[in-house]
Amino acid sequence: MATAPTPPVTLVIFGASGDLTRRLLVPAIINLTRSGLVGDDLHILGVGIEPGDDASLVTRLDSFLAGLEEPVLPEKDDAWRRLRERVSYIAGDFTKDEIFLSIKKRLESAHCSNAAFYLAVPPQFFGPIVEKLAEHGLTREVDGCFRRIAIEKPFGTDLASARALNACILGKVAESQVYRLDHFLGKETVQNILTARFANMMIEALWNNNYIDHVQITAAETVDVGTRGKFYDATGALRDMVPNHLFQLLAMIAMEAPNGFGAEAIRTEKSKVLSALRIYTPEEATEHAVRGTYTAGTLNGSNITAFRETKDVSPDSKTETFVATKLYVDTWRWAGVPFYLRTGKAMTARDTEIVVTFRQVPFAQFRETDVKRNLPPNKLVIQVQPDEGLSIEISIKAPGLSVDTVPVSLDFRYADKFDIGKMTGYESLLYDLFIGDQTLFQRADGIEAGWAAVQPFLDIWAKSAERPDPYAPGSMGPASAEDLIRKDGREWHELGVMLHNQTHNKT
Ligand code: BG6
Repeated sequence: MATAPTPPVTLVIFGASGDLTRRLLVPAIINLTRSGLVGDDLHILGVGIEPGDDASLVTRLDSFLAGLEEPVLPEKDDAWRRLRERVSYIAGDFTKDEIFLSIKKRLESAHCSNAAFYLAVPPQFFGPIVEKLAEHGLTREVDGCFRRIAIEKPFGTDLASARALNACILGKVAESQVYRLDHFLGKETVQNILTARFANMMIEALWNNNYIDHVQITAAETVDVGTRGKFYDATGALRDMVPNHLFQLLAMIAMEAPNGFGAEAIRTEKSKVLSALRIYTPEEATEHAVRGTYTAGTLNGSNITAFRETKDVSPDSKTETFVATKLYVDTWRWAGVPFYLRTGKAMTARDTEIVVTFRQVPFAQFRETDVKRNLPPNKLVIQVQPDEGLSIEISIKAPGLSVDTVPVSLDFRYADKFDIGKMTGYESLLYDLFIGDQTLFQRADGIEAGWAAVQPFLDIWAKSAERPDPYAPGSMGPASAEDLIRKDGREWHELGVMLHNQTHNKT
């Protein structure tokens, strides 16, 4: 548990007038300030293309925070009142030198020279900003001060571009200065995967292909593409979610025990797993992945516009809004265990979960009875969101004279046990950026290994004239996704089966 306050630092946010800054970064810093982990020696220097000055950025933040469901008002909230005194802004074009000269001047006049540069900008600016920072000496760490760079996703759009971006950045700064974000790693339940695995003998002892039949990793969303048509049509579900968010979950599920809990030991094990993902031939890639696009329909009482009719999406678009794939981690521990991944927009429920399905018992005790027909395999369900928690599905004997087995679920919900409060998920990421802990950030080799594993899918789809399969909003995705797993004699875990409901339902 992190308790030490962060050192003095200036957080320089490129893209300060954007959504991420007001929705996630600033609220997270307010939360850190409230908990005493960030003190009055943190300064925010916003940099953005929109004209304005220090006061106009503060006013913009004020009005956003005042409009939150639980409004944050400077007259009532001590943390925000104190923090807003330390917010400043430089307007300008961050492809030009002037802005970097101004940043330099501000940092020189600051009472400390520690700086974290946060790139909350469109990805085409990542490389050029790092180059300019380096050119102006802003990335040089002198007199014990630190200079760090935090980079949002998407980190590249394929293997070649991710490699090129890494080469560009690492040509200017050391890996130890680079903090590549994947906001899934800021989620409490994701961080808990390592504890669940490595602090519990009964889990880790069964964690291999002798006992595990298969793993499912799902990130289903009910939201549609909405106003993000331009970005999404160029990106698609695979690039948006798989090599980053879903692979981070996969890496934490499949990694070996690290030699220690330091950043390098953990990142090394995660990279080893990602580089063990089987690289498919074009034929295998075709066989092991399906993609879909949602049609028009209704979802939770709202009308959904078909993806291809969404603003800024080409009517001929071949971009997928759903993807499902079967992957293998070619290691001793996981040989032969399929990892089924799926993610999509406008689906039946918001549900990010990992389901580990164990093998069937050998039936010895029940061989000659009817019981064997009613003996579902054990499952460990890690509910990432919403309703964060963990459940274990086991079979028990129903009370009575005959031997009837029924599946029951042993559930743990974070909200039942802890006051988890309203966090943005960026608190631990920013805290770690300030204290210099890279555990929750992606290393260059891990990013490239992830892209290498999805590149065969990108290649076959780029060449294919076929459109993704249609699916109705509010469904579990296209029928082909069911076929992908059914042909192996397995079923997808039902979406939206909340731990909460299970707890209170009689079996
Ligand atoms: C983002 C994707 O990285 O993650 C979005 O670009 C997606 O398309 C989002 O909706 C999902 O994150 P979360 O935390 O809401 O599950």
